[in-house]
Amino acid sequence: MRIKAAVLEEFGAPLTVQELDLAKPKAGEVLVRLVACGVCHTDLYTASGADPSGYAPTVLGHEGAGVVEEVGEDVTSLAPGDHVVTLFSPQCRECVHCLSDQTNLCLAIRGMQGQGYLPDGTTRLSRDGEPVRHFMGTSTFAEYTVMPEIALAKVSSEAPLAGACLFACGLSTGLGAAMNTAKVSAGSTCAVFGAGMVGLGAAAGCRLQGAERIICVDLSPERLELARGQGATDLVEGGPDAVEEILELTGGFGADYTFEATGNVSVMRQAVEAARMGWGLCTVAGVAGKGETLDVVPRLLITGRRITGSSFGGVKGRDQVPQLVDLWLAGEIDVDTFVSHRIRLEDVNRGFELMEAQDGIRSVVEF
Ligand SMILES: NC(=O)c1ccc[n+]([C@@H]2O[C@H](COP(=O)([O-])OP(=O)(O)OC[C@H]3O[C@@H](n4cnc5c(N)ncnc54)[C@H](O)[C@@H]3O)[C@@H](O)[C@H]2O)c1
Ligand SMILES: [Zn+2]
Ligand SMILES: [Zn+2]
Repeated sequence: MRIKAAVLEEFGAPLTVQELDLAKPKAGEVLVRLVACGVCHTDLYTASGADPSGYAPTVLGHEGAGVVEEVGEDVTSLAPGDHVVTLFSPQCRECVHCLSDQTNLCLAIRGMQGQGYLPDGTTRLSRDGEPVRHFMGTSTFAEYTVMPEIALAKVSSEAPLAGACLFACGLSTGLGAAMNTAKVSAGSTCAVFGAGMVGLGAAAGCRLQGAERIICVDLSPERLELARGQGATDLVEGGPDAVEEILELTGGFGADYTFEATGNVSVMRQAVEAARMGWGLCTVAGVAGKGETLDVVPRLLITGRRITGSSFGGVKGRDQVPQLVDLWLAGEIDVDTFVSHRIRLEDVNRGFELMEAQDGIRSVVEF
């Protein structure tokens, strides 16, 4: 079929919306009609050429939500009409990682996905007979996409898809960092560095876990106000004094749980330093620049602080994304305030500009 898609032709250049061919789903694959797709930093990171593993041409986009149109052979868990959220982090339910409750890093299709191919090593996207590679296994800046069944989470059809798409990346990452990775305990004190999509999600996750205090740190007063809406009890201006302020707010000890959601390695260091001696756990969610390292004084570890990282919030997508969406439908998570701009596919580059200007939390492409 012919579809309209936003194509990255050349690094550093705007995406161009054009017609491509999309082949039918093969065995284990599903054709999805996209209804909404968030514009995320990772799309921009790849479009800019900064990502060393990036390639072009490709169709970007990975925060998708839509409706199943057609299923290939052997697809058993989805049927036409199902509402789905796309998963760049799949869940095969069979590999050694899927069978472990300690990680969400499914091993089933990693190699092919990273190179831009569906699991059988080919693409469904093409232009004039030439294959066009997929991106993150999703390629959701498009009217339709073909994806593996194991990379689609079936969610409640009650959920508006323009909000559901945020669970495809940033929001689940933040919520999961608090709920799965750190497993924040009730009554605890938390500190969240960064109040973008991920940090705000982490604040909401801390609240859902019953944290008593949630200290949010950001450079932007507007974003700190949004953090209050997600459950922040204390707001701290980011910068060199942030750790000192958190120590003051916590009787000199630091927080039981800290979260880093900025991607800045000096903030990661602050998040370690703001964790409490004895048992403080620092969860790093931000993605640092290529070659950057985290600088930590080892004494902080010997005295009981721990550091961990979290990819997609440790969320096992097919099992847990539907549960998180249900929490939203039950009124436990405020998603609407995250959708700041609704744009058309033709305006996807405007979505990048809004993101660079930190205008709102998320622009959502609606199809
Ligand atoms: N681990 C994962 O699976 C995963 C998934 C999605 C995103 N991410 C990463 O998470 C990070 C956050 O993503 P986002 O979409 O929320 O980004 P964002 O840009 O919307 O938010 C980052 C926030 O950090 C704040 N900030 C910058 N410097 C700061 C400082 N010194 N102190 C305090 N706050 C500061 C900014 O003002 C901004 O509000 C990025 O690095 C992104 O790549 C990771
Ligand atoms: Zn993303
Ligand atoms: Zn797996």
